[in-house]
Amino acid sequence: MADLILGIETSCDETAAAVLEGREKIRSNIVASQAKLHAPYGGIVPEVASRRHLEMIGPVIRLAVQEAGIHFSDLAGLAVTVGPGLVGSLLVGVSAAKALAYTLGKPLVAVNHIEGHLAAGLLDHPHLECPYVALVASGGHTHLYDAETPGKYRLLGCTRDDAAGEAFDKVAKILGLPYPGGPHIEQVASTGDPRAVPFPRPIFGHGSLDFSFSGLKTAVIHYLEARGYRAPRRRSAPMARAPYPEPSPPDPQLVADIAASFQQAVVDVLTRNAIKAAKRVKATRILLTGGVACNQSLRHHLARRAIRDGIEVYWPRPELCTDNAAMIAAAGSVRLGRGEAAHLDLNASANLPLC
Ligand code: KG4
Ligand code: ZN
Repeated sequence: MADLILGIETSCDETAAAVLEGREKIRSNIVASQAKLHAPYGGIVPEVASRRHLEMIGPVIRLAVQEAGIHFSDLAGLAVTVGPGLVGSLLVGVSAAKALAYTLGKPLVAVNHIEGHLAAGLLDHPHLECPYVALVASGGHTHLYDAETPGKYRLLGCTRDDAAGEAFDKVAKILGLPYPGGPHIEQVASTGDPRAVPFPRPIFGHGSLDFSFSGLKTAVIHYLEARGYRAPRRRSAPMARAPYPEPSPPDPQLVADIAASFQQAVVDVLTRNAIKAAKRVKATRILLTGGVACNQSLRHHLARRAIRDGIEVYWPRPELCTDNAAMIAAAGSVRLGRGEAAHLDLNASANLPLC
């Protein structure tokens, strides 16, 4: 049997643990989502997230090992997300991983969360060859990388404000849709007209491959306000009375048209920059990953547009697009294979860059 690696992920609002056999065989992949807990606030409340991670980390790790049908002593090593993410959340996973590695006497490696999202693509497409361009679009990141050689990434562009998933979540909140917004916007958009509202598609000069999504959110607010609707008030802390009474929701067809037009604007911008990036570095493959990569409209639009330039697009299955620990174990297995091992003073790093 190939080496068994335990992956641990707690960077945001999912407590996750997974066991990977070798480089790509997922023996278990447990994700305890906190989405329902944060839903009344329309976004993640960091203190609430770390407390729930503390409650869940033990049971989630035990379940991952149990479902994999192994014993802790069978593990060859452990991998844990150390950043970027919410520092209180990250610390729960890092502390648990260090305690376990010390007790078991097994090596532990530190994994960058974005490196995990990139490894998720390789779990489902192990033969994806470099060079390729990777677009990581999630609630916290919108980054374009040139994957020149295995494990070596060069940043080509990133968001200058909100991440793509963050924009989905914020616009969903404005439209009175539940958190997390991406899947709900996608569902509502299916009955709307993507050409109904000409939302902005920002372009930066000088050949920049950067993104900006915060203006899109403001445009949605202005569009609603011009039609006599008031966007919900900001609700950020659980201490305040929750849930707030919401203003009356806009007409469902208007919501569907705004959702469809907003989604199309995000899809257009992501597609445009991803293809521009691939052409610039002369890559014929694009890997689309991160939670937003679950979006069918994005997948199909990008794939259809890319084929015209002879570019193929790959994405992992949905449960590997959103946060999970199998992707952390996958990235970790490469590091463990190189003989890397972190020291027990390993710490979380909220703004850890990938490269
Ligand atoms: O990768 P992920 O689970 O966590 C982060 O690393 O942030 O991504 C979560 C994000 C959320 O913002 C969520 O709204 C978005 O991914 N998302 C989607 C879809 N499914 C999840 N966005 C658009 N369409 C979807 N179907
Ligand atoms: Zn993520």
